Order: sequence, then C-alpha cells, then structure tokens
Amino acid sequence: MVDRGPFETDISTVTRFVTEKGRKARGTGELTQLLNSLCTAIKAISSAVRQAGIAELYGIAGSTNVTGDQVKKLDILSNDLVVNMLKSSYATCVLVSEEDTNAIIIEPEKRGKYVVCFDPLDGSSNIDCLVSIGTIFGIYRKTSTDEPSEKDALQPGRKLVAAGYALYGSATMLVLAMDCGVNSFMLDPSIGEFIMVDRNVKIKKKGNIYSLNEGYAKDFDPAINEYVQRKKFPSDGSAPYGARYVGSMVADIHRTLVYGGIFIYPANKKNPSGKLRLLYECIPIAYIMEKAGGIATTGKENILDIIPTEIHQKAPVIMGSPEDVQEFLDIYKKYKAK
Ligand code: F6P
Repeated sequence: MVDRGPFETDISTVTRFVTEKGRKARGTGELTQLLNSLCTAIKAISSAVRQAGIAELYGIAGSTNVTGDQVKKLDILSNDLVVNMLKSSYATCVLVSEEDTNAIIIEPEKRGKYVVCFDPLDGSSNIDCLVSIGTIFGIYRKTSTDEPSEKDALQPGRKLVAAGYALYGSATMLVLAMDCGVNSFMLDPSIGEFIMVDRNVKIKKKGNIYSLNEGYAKDFDPAINEYVQRKKFPSDGSAPYGARYVGSMVADIHRTLVYGGIFIYPANKKNPSGKLRLLYECIPIAYIMEKAGGIATTGKENILDIIPTEIHQKAPVIMGSPEDVQEFLDIYKKYKAK
C-alpha cells in the first residue's frame, strides 16, 4: 500500500504514473493524452452515477442496443462521454463501443494511432437498484497502414497496449493494466484525481469464492456443474467456497482480483458463446487477470489468444486465481476426453 498521509504534497496520480511510464519508454505522449481524456470521461460518468436520481438519469431510454439489452439513459450519457473525450484526445482512429452497432471511425483531422474498445457502462441491469456498475476498456495500436476500419479492432488480446476498468462502487476505483503490471487508483472527489492506492496488484494463487449465475445451471456444460458441486461439497475435507454474484462483471471481477477465487460466465445450451462480449468485456479483463498472475480461459483456449472475427462477438469466460481456474480446466479436459 502506498503511504498517503492527509496532507500529501507529492501526489501519485494516474496521469503522473502514465506520464512517467511514457517518458521511460520514450513515447510520443499520445497514450498519456488518451488515458487523460478517458479519465475525464470516467470522472464525469462517476459523477453522473452518483447523481443519477437527482438528475433523472435512471430509467430506460426506449431503445435496445446491438446485443439486445435495454438502453438506459446513463448508458447513453456514458457512451457519449467516452466517445467525445476519446475523439478530442487526438489519439485514436477507431472506437468500438458496446452501444454502437458499427465501429466509429474518427475524422481524419482528429486521428491518432490508437484503437479503443469499450463498454461505457457495464452491468446496466444494476443501474436502477444502485448496485455497482463499471466502465471497461482495451487499447490497441493500429497495426495496418490502410484507412482506419472495423478490422483494426479485430486484434487478439495479446496485442493490447493497455486495458482497465473503472468501478463505480462504494468509491470509484480505476484499475489499469499495462505491460508493467496492474495498478489501482482511487478517485479522490475532493481534488478530482485518481490517486495510486495499490502498486503491482497480484491475485491470490487460490481463493475461496466462486461467482456465476447459478440460476442457469440446467443449461450449463456438465464440467461447470461438476466444478460448482465440488466447491459446495469438497471431498478433501476443506471448507466449502462462498458464493458471490453481483451481476455486474466489473464488480465481480474486482472482488475476484482483490479477494481471489473464480468468476465464470459460461456457455450454455441457449447461448453457446455465453453472454459476455469478447472485445470490450472478456479481452480487457483477461489481460488484467493475466498481468495480475491469474488465468482467463474459455475452457478451450486462453482468451488472449482468440482472434476476433466480429466486433460484438461473445465468448464464455472462466477467470481468476490460477489454482482455481486450473482445477476447472482439469475437470473440463476430463469431460472433453469422454
Ligand atoms: O454484459 C453485461 C452484464 O451486465 C455483465 O456485467 C454481467 O457480468 C452480466 O451481464 C450478468 O448477466 P446475467 O444477468 O445473465 O447474470
């Protein structure tokens, strides 16, 4: 934990952290500019989330997004904030948002070298009941020299430059993963800055919490049901695992990162690819998990190795503490061998 007295005068902000990293890597400053703009959007979303009732932002805006979810007013506001701030960073050329059917191609005079995939407000079914929600993002470099297009976003997670999430919980937290590792920053509302609170975050090797929507168990793959059964009725004399499921991916993932354990959103008979979106949910979170020492898999393959074919495609996810995920993978292999 970084020591942060009440009257600190040499404050470790996220901007400072990213600027220092950029300087060391002799970068152009474009990524710093991008992250700065993104942080402004996140701070504004955080403020909107906290004032939602007063500002009459709750409720359904009257349309459905590309993945069929009902669109909330806060979703639209958050999307507009992220899109506008990223455009005005002059650091991006292609944006993929959960809320937009097509990729957004930035106008030539505002283009930069980065491609950003994001879910501006994840966990939207939890907005109206005040349960934690979040923003997820993954940042890639444009690799081709062609005109920017949707194709630039179809990169495997291994190519990510940075990924992160903001959690609008009892406090607002930004978790940022880059090549150097995972760092957490807490929003200090009194100065409007994200302050570093945890450096080089690592997930526990093994936890004691499992997290999935067990309501869908009848349609799960048998390997999932066997794993969950083992957690409830351990045969080796160990204590059963606790069950926790918020239903906002960012909240469930943040708890998994901090306390350890396993988060699962599996495929099921009705949805053979599960529910979570590869580009702006599974891949960025998988990157964070791996950088923190965890594992993120679909069961069949590592999430970061998937080469996306469509911007809104889905993938099953099993991620978290390495020993917990490995235990699931061993069961999964047994079923696949049958
Ligand atoms: O994809 C949106 C989302 O709200 C995730 O944040 C969350 O993990 C999941 O859906 C919850 O889905 P369900 O209601 O099926 O458990």
